[in-house]
Amino acid sequence: MDIRNFIKQYIKNPKTVGAVAPSSEKLAYKMVENIDFSRVDCIVEYGPGTGVFTEKILNKKKDSTIFISIEYNEQFYNILREKFQNRTNFILVNDSAENLKDYLKKYNISKVDYIVSGLPFASLPKDMSENILTITKEILKGKGIFITFQYTLLKMKLFKMYFGRIKRKRVLLNLPPAYVLECKN
Ligand SMILES: C[S@@+](CC[C@H](N)C(=O)[O-])C[C@H]1O[C@@H](n2cnc3c(N)ncnc32)[C@H](O)[C@@H]1O
Repeated sequence: MDIRNFIKQYIKNPKTVGAVAPSSEKLAYKMVENIDFSRVDCIVEYGPGTGVFTEKILNKKKDSTIFISIEYNEQFYNILREKFQNRTNFILVNDSAENLKDYLKKYNISKVDYIVSGLPFASLPKDMSENILTITKEILKGKGIFITFQYTLLKMKLFKMYFGRIKRKRVLLNLPPAYVLECKN
């Protein structure tokens, strides 16, 4: 079902959806494996799609941790709302990640520990990528960690413009195989 939705949305919005299938369980596991959930007050997700990373985060987070997940595509947002709307301290937003600051203000959140991204930076419009990386760096204030995945390393130069230290690992069990990047200032 999720795969059929993905293909449909990819055909309509190839640049922002950026993939024809959801990420694998293995990639989802690798995206969150280094997060110290016992110490997280607030975690943000960009581009949850049909929620493979969302589910992992919801299952691992403490009840008191605030989790904001921000999805641009209305159809994906509706699917996510149906799957997860009753979870504790979970805020699902239908908007662009570019507007995250508005939601942090709305919910009175001053510190974000991790931002986990499913965004397809390789195909997103250039302005959108730059706006998102600019606010991400600002919001993490040199302390938080930005975790993203990419299918190629073509955008490393872009990430290096915003983050001083980037650790990467390869995940072969995904179609296509992917890199997980953990970015810090
Ligand atoms: C490659 S899919 C990844 C979905 C999911 N994280 C996964 O790994 O299966 C990219 C997702 O980012 C969303 N997206 C694209 N641009 C966005 C933006 N500016 N703000 C929030 N979500 C966005 C798309 O709608 C899509 O759901």
